[in-house]
Amino acid sequence: MRVLKIIIFFIVLQVSAQQGGMWIPSLLEGMNEDEMRSLGSKLTAKDIYDVNNSSLKDAIGHFNGGCTSEVISPKGLLLTNHHCGFGQIQSHSSLENDYLKDGFWAMSLKDEIPNEGLFVEFIVRIEDVTEAMLMNVTDSMTPREKQSQIDKNRNSVEKNAKKESWQGIKIRPFYKGNQYYLFVTERFEDVRLVGAPPSSIGKFGSDTDNWVWPRHTGDFSIFRIYADKNNRPAKYDKNNVPYKPKHFLPVSLDGIEEGDFTMVFGFPGRTNEYLPAVAIEQITQKVNPSNIAIREAALKVIDANMKADDQIRIQYASKQARIANAWKKWIGENLGIEKSGAIDIKRQFEAEFTKALKAQGKESEYGMLLPEFDRLYKEFESINVKRGKFIEVFLRTNELMQMMLRLAQLEMSARRGEDTFNKARESTINRMKGIHKNYNVEVDKGVFKAVMPLFMPDKVDASIYDRTNFTDLDKTLKVLEGDSENVIAKLNSDIAYQYAKPIIMQFYTNYEPEFQRLNTEINAIQTTYMKALMEVMPGERYFPDANSTLRVTYGKVNGYAPRDAVYYNPVTYLDGVIEKYVPGDYEFDVPQRLRDLYNAKDYGQYADKNGKLPICFLGTNHTTGGNSGSPAIDAQGNLVGLNFDRVWEGTMSDIYYDPEICRNIMVDLRYVLFIIDKYAGAKHLIDEMKLVHPKK
Ligand code: ARG
Ligand code: GLU
Repeated sequence: MRVLKIIIFFIVLQVSAQQGGMWIPSLLEGMNEDEMRSLGSKLTAKDIYDVNNSSLKDAIGHFNGGCTSEVISPKGLLLTNHHCGFGQIQSHSSLENDYLKDGFWAMSLKDEIPNEGLFVEFIVRIEDVTEAMLMNVTDSMTPREKQSQIDKNRNSVEKNAKKESWQGIKIRPFYKGNQYYLFVTERFEDVRLVGAPPSSIGKFGSDTDNWVWPRHTGDFSIFRIYADKNNRPAKYDKNNVPYKPKHFLPVSLDGIEEGDFTMVFGFPGRTNEYLPAVAIEQITQKVNPSNIAIREAALKVIDANMKADDQIRIQYASKQARIANAWKKWIGENLGIEKSGAIDIKRQFEAEFTKALKAQGKESEYGMLLPEFDRLYKEFESINVKRGKFIEVFLRTNELMQMMLRLAQLEMSARRGEDTFNKARESTINRMKGIHKNYNVEVDKGVFKAVMPLFMPDKVDASIYDRTNFTDLDKTLKVLEGDSENVIAKLNSDIAYQYAKPIIMQFYTNYEPEFQRLNTEINAIQTTYMKALMEVMPGERYFPDANSTLRVTYGKVNGYAPRDAVYYNPVTYLDGVIEKYVPGDYEFDVPQRLRDLYNAKDYGQYADKNGKLPICFLGTNHTTGGNSGSPAIDAQGNLVGLNFDRVWEGTMSDIYYDPEICRNIMVDLRYVLFIIDKYAGAKHLIDEMKLVHPKK
């Protein structure tokens, strides 16, 4: 009995030790290092981040500014998600060489395909520059005065920073602007496509399975970084050579089991963990429902058309996926906030904060913060929702309105002279071509009729579709010919432009300034609130919100209970792929070759110790968008997984991390290796890697 109690106590301790957080890699010594060790890690803070010696961070690259990638061989081989490399894979695909459908494998270096515009950025060094950035910034300044002083400071910090000629510099605010860090970066611009599985593996389950567990997606693709002959960053050149990294991740063949330590290292984009309850209430009760409704209305039209027509299905696949991704996430976020009782928990926390202020005699200094939040968010609500709706209609769902917005921006650019106008015209033309590449007037008109009533119910006039020039690319390009005066005159005689322009002008002259005014005030209060929290309740767990900089998060491989009586195991197997198999289905088809390997149980060295092939697994790592493609690293610093998603019930971790239901989803590296080796026959890539057996 006693032993049992001790064991239970121990388990409770273990779970409560996993509370999430995205930590700055240069500051892990002490608390994080100890906590990681208590979770099973054998790594020191210096193994992860070291300025003088190579360390894990040298293998982690920011992939094209939006995803994460990692170096996995001494020859610059780079791993990321299939959905991160999707654009590149798509751009090299044609009907004859459909790499999206069939996959792509370069069988030698010379077959690797360059990608214009693609870049990977590494972090050389991180420095705390708070003092220099906040020099001469005083409490008596207005937010605007503060900002202009900070901008001045930024210039001198940048000028004085030590770096090599080929390196770059970034400075970012942390803890809501209470701290600043400087990053010295190295950006590689010759990054070539090496391999990608077919979408039926890399995107298996598509939107139905997106944000969902159990998951069976082999969401990976492979690139290679090339450098000049001095191993430095260089533009594409056929004489460039494979990059020799300061560090690359060895790959473990022993995989993971429930309870194992994992750490995820990458570039999370944006979180908001220190919002007051009143803000979370506004997001979940006003903003999310309004945006969800608009996307839902658009998706209904797009989905119906995609089902009815194959051509439309292909045309709208990627737009549909983009719209559906956030739509599904927001629904999950609302459910999770509700289920975890996050708003009440925040309220209790705020009551404690108020009590602590009293106890410490700091009411005069910080006592106005929470009432100010209440006042400002009340004032903010209607403009926040309205602006959100405008963005959803004019930027996310309706294509004609998106064109109108771009054209209105073009008209505005003429105020800054003919040169500016001509530059803007070039990019407008590209955008128009981009939209028309996969455009169907009937679908878009249907979307218009569905979404516009949710934004401006008294201004729905779909007849503009029958008389405008802009549903046709050639006519659109004609309108854009001539000098600015000429183009603007033609624009203003178009029926759709006449319809949209007043709405767009209202956005720029009314919504946007009002939104920015209140947002600036709210941010200023949020900065002081963050400072007050850390000062008044110093025992709490404070990590800086994600801001697309390099972070470490860690936890354990762990299942979860989404609902009463339901428990999800943390690992899926190839058997589950076969269970989901629907012949010919665009989401759940399985390639013949994969079915053959399954039937023959031909898993080579990639099976687990029970002879099964693991596909995906769950962890308690605190991740967000941008962590796609991040490595999951084991207790010894080896690669065991590739992050690509979160579970639906836990997507609220961007606002509130609940260790009970927040889980990240990773591809098991053994599945990645199996696909490269057994499925694609690209054994030469495996031979480049360093495969290890840390558990033996
Ligand atoms: N939910 C993941 C993320 O936020 C994956 C998105 C790509 N996959 C998809 N089915 N749309 O990026
Ligand atoms: N799929 C996301 C991405 O592209 C990662 C999932 C998440 O938001 O956690 O970064």
